Amino acid sequence: MLELRHVSKSFGQKQVLQKISLHVANGEFVSVIGPSGSGKSTMFSLIGGLLEPDAGEIYLSGENITNKRGFISYMPQQASLFPWRTIMENVLVGQELQGKKDYERAKTMLERAGLGDVIHAYPHELSGGMKQRVAFIRALLSPQSLMLLDEPFSALDEFTRTDMQKWLLSIWEDDEQSILFITHNIDEALFLSDKIIILSVNPAEIKEVIEVPFKRPRDEELLLSEEFLQWKRRIMEVIQF
Ligand SMILES: Nc1ncnc2c1ncn2[C@@H]1O[C@H](COP(=O)(O)OP(=O)(O)O)[C@@H](O)[C@H]1O
Ligand SMILES: [Mg+2]
Repeated sequence: MLELRHVSKSFGQKQVLQKISLHVANGEFVSVIGPSGSGKSTMFSLIGGLLEPDAGEIYLSGENITNKRGFISYMPQQASLFPWRTIMENVLVGQELQGKKDYERAKTMLERAGLGDVIHAYPHELSGGMKQRVAFIRALLSPQSLMLLDEPFSALDEFTRTDMQKWLLSIWEDDEQSILFITHNIDEALFLSDKIIILSVNPAEIKEVIEVPFKRPRDEELLLSEEFLQWKRRIMEVIQF
């Protein structure tokens, strides 16, 4: 599905990404984990075609999409909804660009996200968690088959965050899109992913790729299991060395 081959990027003298190669299979949920400033958002901008790599290529379903936009649905770190559009008008933006609007599907998904009452409200009337859900539905409704999510839950409190993670899994398990998910939270990566890519810093290189063995569907019990803690310890060790 998505493949990065030896992608490197510097800003001036500062090398941020060093020969990053990675692969996301069809329907796979892959997380990229690394500390703040390691180059995660830069990697996303490269995949989305918003930045040019200094070297390397990016392929989507075999097609070279390096420096090309519009192939991937992208949810940036700050959910940026259009303030002058209603929630419904916001989630239909991606489809509008393609010239076809599926109002009924949008309505169903907003209802499933607990947003049925605010379909015709404006973004400023919603809480932070609700706005994130709107941005997420907008990305899901876009016609692209790969979704990039850049720390979508980092601004949320712990309770809202766990609810959102469960909600994301329930939607994704039905929808079978491929997801590349950025986080600096180990629990979140383990709970959500099929595969975790661990980055080093200065420059970011891939330190290790971990296949997550937990069965699906997953629930909160998993977070407290011995097996979960063992994997968490293992990832912490990789990050520290
Ligand atoms: N447009 C830019 N120009 C110069 N430096 C940048 C730019 N974007 C990011 N950087 C630098 O690249 C590094 C990685 O940033 P970023 O990809 O945002 O990290 P992360 O998302 O992992 O926190 C940081 O040191 C940041 O200051
Ligand atoms: Mg970032």
